[in-house]
Amino acid sequence: MNVMAIEGGLPLYGEAEVHGAKNAVLPVLSAALLCPKATIRSCPLLSDVWAARRILEHLGCRVSTADSERTLQINASSANGYGVPESLAGEMRSSIIFLGALLARWGKAHIALPGGCRLGPRPIDLHISGLRQMGVRIIEQEDGLLCSVDGTLKGADICLKYPSVGATENLLIAASLAKGITTLRGMAMEPEIDGLIDFLNRAGARIYHKGDCLCIEGVELLHDVDYTIIPDRIEAATYLSAAAATGGEITLKKICLPHLASVLPVFEEMGCMLKTKQDEISLSAPKRLSHVRSLSTAPYPGFPTDALAPVMAASLLADGASRFEELVFQSRYLHVNQFEKMGANVHMEGRTAFVDGVPFLRSARLHCTDLRGGAALVIAALAAKGVSFIDELQHIYRGYDDMPAVIRQLGGKVWMISSGSIRIGKRETNRKKEEFSNLGYTAGIPLTQTQGVL
Ligand code: EPZ
Repeated sequence: MNVMAIEGGLPLYGEAEVHGAKNAVLPVLSAALLCPKATIRSCPLLSDVWAARRILEHLGCRVSTADSERTLQINASSANGYGVPESLAGEMRSSIIFLGALLARWGKAHIALPGGCRLGPRPIDLHISGLRQMGVRIIEQEDGLLCSVDGTLKGADICLKYPSVGATENLLIAASLAKGITTLRGMAMEPEIDGLIDFLNRAGARIYHKGDCLCIEGVELLHDVDYTIIPDRIEAATYLSAAAATGGEITLKKICLPHLASVLPVFEEMGCMLKTKQDEISLSAPKRLSHVRSLSTAPYPGFPTDALAPVMAASLLADGASRFEELVFQSRYLHVNQFEKMGANVHMEGRTAFVDGVPFLRSARLHCTDLRGGAALVIAALAAKGVSFIDELQHIYRGYDDMPAVIRQLGGKVWMISSGSIRIGKRETNRKKEEFSNLGYTAGIPLTQTQGVL
């Protein structure tokens, strides 16, 4: 198991490019099942993407990397499977996103239920009720959902009682090959949904907005498509939070500014100066941030729930008391007790977190609890005095493309250590950089396996 060692207290300076969005690429990989050939560019290198690739290959697709490691070529013409077993579905929290594509392709599906996750139960009632309206018979069994359709999927008028991103994506994909027209009301409007619509329309689907609903005119077949994944707005918010937390000055390139419309004002409220042009943003942070008066998460275009933990990390050292309210998921605060190990002052009341900014954070041994909470720990470690160590990094690998490389590019001091080579105790977190680097570690990789206690 790897451990990330971070020397904190250094402002981040520099430029970095944002990668393709995790939450955009996963539904597109599912929809690729409906196209003979799909070339998908700007695919982030994430464990969730590898899990989705394994599902596609299990279904009989041929998947290869083309001109760059971030371009996937998917040939689904030889696909023949309609089942996703627990062994594969369990690897990727959002594997349910394959349901709509399986039903559109085969008229049947047998998919293991997505496990709950650290954010709380992950119900799929909105997915199921919408698909049933399209003529799908769904039996919920021990080993997952057994689904079938007499003939083909039928267009339907569907109104979602909550703008679920995953349900919107599943219904969109299913409706693209259904017989007749489907109208979706109350659907999610995240940019990742627009990305999926763009992918499907480039492949020959007929999807368009009409007033406050989405219309999908089912077509017979989709054709080959070449598509580039949209930039990751949450990755951008994460590194902006890291720069803000360390009093740094960074520029992020290849972003989509409109996607950050609800996030940027929060950095300005915290006292950061922002400069934007086309697909770039520069953030210059004050020595000490101001607090966040009150921030509540909401479906797009509201403040994204996935950016809550990173921004909260930046508020730990801010001047004054910040208030955060999580209104999308049941629990988005699993990382708070890790903050408290660093001396942060956070008080919880249900789904609301109150953060009293402290003058400094202690470095500590930290354990990632979930994807965005893990990113928040990295931010807190970058802002803390001394060297912190973070493990359970598999959560971060799910959603951040080579985070250590990006942090190093922004001037951060981060090392990856195989935990077998070190025992980390209290003493290590107070080491000075020179002691630490004398142990044979340079930025990034251990030169040698150190013996005994680091
Ligand atoms: C997507 O999850 C994202 N994941 C999440 O990102 C993101 O936080 C979330 O949308 C909200 O924006 C991917 O795109 C892979 P939802 P999803 O269905 O589709 C309830 C990250 O960190 N709900 O919009 O699962 C549900 O319980 C991840 O990148 C139902 O009640 O989100 C939750 O409280 C985390 N019934 C709320 O809706 C349903 O049938 C939002 O869920 C479906 C959802």
